[in-house]
Amino acid sequence: MLRKTLFALVAAIAVSGSSAVSAADTKSVEVMHWWTSGGEARALEVLKDGLKQRGYAWKDAPIAGGGGEAARTVLKARVASGNPPDAIQMLGFTIPEYASQDFLTNLDSIAAKEGWDKLVPGPIQRFSKVDGHWVAVPVDVHRTNWIWANKKIFDQLHLTPPQTFDQLVADAAVIRKAGYTPLAHGGQPWQEATIFDSAVMSAGGPKFYSQALVNLDPAALGSKTMEKAFDQMRALRGMVDPNFPGRDWNLATSMVINGKAAMQIMGDWAKGEFVNAGKKANVDYLCFQYPGTQGDFIFNTDQFATFKKSDASVPGENAFASTVMDKGVQAKFNQIKGAIPARLDVPSDGFDECGQKSMADLRTALKSGTMVGSFAHGHAMPDGPKNAVYDVVTHFFNTNESSADAVKQLVDAVNNAK
Ligand code: GAL
Repeated sequence: MLRKTLFALVAAIAVSGSSAVSAADTKSVEVMHWWTSGGEARALEVLKDGLKQRGYAWKDAPIAGGGGEAARTVLKARVASGNPPDAIQMLGFTIPEYASQDFLTNLDSIAAKEGWDKLVPGPIQRFSKVDGHWVAVPVDVHRTNWIWANKKIFDQLHLTPPQTFDQLVADAAVIRKAGYTPLAHGGQPWQEATIFDSAVMSAGGPKFYSQALVNLDPAALGSKTMEKAFDQMRALRGMVDPNFPGRDWNLATSMVINGKAAMQIMGDWAKGEFVNAGKKANVDYLCFQYPGTQGDFIFNTDQFATFKKSDASVPGENAFASTVMDKGVQAKFNQIKGAIPARLDVPSDGFDECGQKSMADLRTALKSGTMVGSFAHGHAMPDGPKNAVYDVVTHFFNTNESSADAVKQLVDAVNNAK
């Protein structure tokens, strides 16, 4: 109902011609995003340059806050006041949500001209296209089931990447004893949810992950396997330092970079921080999969959608979409961002070992149909149940609740939010 009202409001403003200055008038594209950390901002420069080469200025509208919750709130307000940005970074289910209200530009002609159908993996197209029409353009493929480790600490303590969760627990005890924080963590719901992606995958594998977090099957949500995922969360809670509440993700990454902490469980945007600090994979830091998720691929893809404006032909939108999908831009952008390209035809040379591993694992997961969307980053379930699960996970992480109780809460929360 509210959305219908919002749409009517925007439509009315559009008809009266009083909307904000369009991209066509200014030869600029206003882009809203949440890439404000050092690594993210550097990667963004590649997109800005690409747009400039196409004759458009990039009007920057950053909204700080990892995971994008703050940006999504600001977007809602701007749409409500009839002044959406020209373009916005979007994740997963947010795209069909806005597209179904008819807010987003149809990108079919540029998609056909540039052959996007053949270039972008199916599980990503599932969000880029709504009712068969392209409405968003993917720039990267991030993966959430990574651990980033300080190599010096691992070498000093004679540790190698743990292959099982029990081994991770044993290693954490050794690290703690040596005076380091085993796990750098930022206590924000989206960061706890990011760890939960891996815990669920590790406890049950890709089929279970999909049954529980994509199909929202009550039997899977309420299962003993799900209890195991919460058990892992409890063990991880014991590995953090006392100052974790509220810490931004990139500050947690700095703890690993600076040798205060040994590991961080985070999507590969964390690698962007290592790259930005001049650190090298397998020299300064290690990248490996969360134990029990080796070979599994939990993806989080950043896409950009453009908003319909009163002026029906806004050429900046095509130039912008074309920049985001540009082969060279995707190669350069992702080498800095820590992700891999959303286009499958970008060569892997130029990517470091972590990137090359991700590229290989993505292709294997695509073939076996086990490339699954990140719950934490809006690619598994729509916002309603997602927020309900966030609450359960964060409550569990920050209290002494038992895993059995958390699982009961999970079933109820999802049931009420469906
Ligand atoms: C995610 C986004 C990533 C990364 C991260 C931290 O939502 O998809 O690209 O930037 O937030 O800000």
